[in-house]
Amino acid sequence: MTDYTTTQTGAPVASDAHSLTAGVDGATVLHDRYLVEKLAQFNRERIPERIVHAKGGGAFGEFVVTEDVSRCTRAAVFQPGATSEMLLRFSSVAGEQGSPDTWRDVRGYALKFYTTEGNHDIVGNNTPVFFIRDAIKFPDFIHSQKRLPGPGLRDADMQWDFWTLSPESAHQVTYLMGDRGLPQSWRTMNGYGSHTYQWINAPGERFWVQYHFLSRQGDLHLGADQAEAIAGADADHYRRDLYEAIERGEFPTWDVYVQVMPYEEAKAYRFNPFDLTKTWSKKDYPRIKVGHYTLNRNPRNFFAEIEQAAFSPANLVPGIDISPDKMLMARVFSYPDAQRYRVGTNYNQLPVNAPHAASVHNYSQDGAQRHGFNHPDVPVYAPNSFGGPVADPARAGEGGWESDGALTRAAATLHAEDDDFGQAGTLYREVFTAEARARFLATLTGQGNAITVDEIRERFFRYWTNVDAELGAALRAQVGTEVSAA
Ligand code: HEM
Repeated sequence: MTDYTTTQTGAPVASDAHSLTAGVDGATVLHDRYLVEKLAQFNRERIPERIVHAKGGGAFGEFVVTEDVSRCTRAAVFQPGATSEMLLRFSSVAGEQGSPDTWRDVRGYALKFYTTEGNHDIVGNNTPVFFIRDAIKFPDFIHSQKRLPGPGLRDADMQWDFWTLSPESAHQVTYLMGDRGLPQSWRTMNGYGSHTYQWINAPGERFWVQYHFLSRQGDLHLGADQAEAIAGADADHYRRDLYEAIERGEFPTWDVYVQVMPYEEAKAYRFNPFDLTKTWSKKDYPRIKVGHYTLNRNPRNFFAEIEQAAFSPANLVPGIDISPDKMLMARVFSYPDAQRYRVGTNYNQLPVNAPHAASVHNYSQDGAQRHGFNHPDVPVYAPNSFGGPVADPARAGEGGWESDGALTRAAATLHAEDDDFGQAGTLYREVFTAEARARFLATLTGQGNAITVDEIRERFFRYWTNVDAELGAALRAQVGTEVSAA
């Protein structure tokens, strides 16, 4: 039997075609409670889009640990043979909800592992570094990449003004203007945790780690013309590609690697290992295999399972913690704050955000849209004498590091080889192929041509000269004379 349409409270309704009116041609009446409910519900369908990474998509899968890294972490999710259900959301950074997937951008790479010790999220990108190294710059950085307040347009002058006044951006801007700025698809992209995290093993020893997620589908990119054509033809190209591949049974897989630095080596390492604009040399700290994950299940409802998904670097589990990276420490605050606003106070009770393999025990209660609650016999406060949940004292010392004490506002201590341009130059000269360098020059020529303020364009030349003298000279010669790919 066909189900009758009902109101939100389950009562059958008379019509989905005709409002209640006073006479066939007369006024619509306010007491058509179903009409009012239907329109009101519709008006509330949207929630605010993410302030960054608004356009995205994702899928569920399974993470399998094939190697033994238990000497470095006691986290259940990384123990040999462990399998965990997971969710991966890919995104663009600057564009809004409906923006074309193939606009040049860094791509977000957010993982949620539903572990037996609670949910663990690694919220990274398809690049191993970032534009800035102190969170206090983040809102300014994002404002410069989004839209001018007057015309509501994106603007090369403000993007390059910010970047060239923030030379620590050079490494990430080199990635962005290179092939990684235009991935062929989400499936053909590597992911990185980008920050340095902390691992703690069973005896309590600490290590610093960086995550690398290498795509078995390859690390492939689009040409600038191709990306532009796709942006016009199919704004949802990446979202469609992932969804359709999974529907066809072609499940994408990534291998999980870590670089591990013994705790004591951080102080003397040639680069500040907590500086998000730097990578660790793979010669100094080779990649160690951990396992792999495969995406094998599309969301059944995009809004419920992807739009309302809430990833956060604060979702840590025993054996994994943060590091003194000035970006990461602030992100731990920022994400849950954004999600309380964007999704609602009790966002962690939604099925996609609640733990799937662990349970929740605490004394929080009530708030808008509260769904779950403790058994009435569980006390509502701690400490109590009635057998309510208690904190685990074994975790008290976990996740710390030695600090130098006095409160200050200053740049972090420089390590031997720290500067803003060195690693960007190495990336350009030693990692990019000759063809990739040619594409890079064409892209930067287009970018330089889009700058309209002379002072910013001059800084643009100096910025790239600092990355590589020949590159700077080539740009000086070309910008303003040749029109090239943006
Ligand atoms: C999303 C803040 C740096 C990757 C977000 C959101 C906020 C935010 C508020 C929206 C969260 C939501 O509404 O659910 C910040 C701040 C940063 C920072 C304050 C610096 C201090 C980074 C870095 C990375 C990153 C360094 C990567 C290494 C992402 C990703 C998302 C995101 C992938 C989308 C998550 C998803 O798919 O839902 N960020 N962010 N962010 N951020 Fe950041």
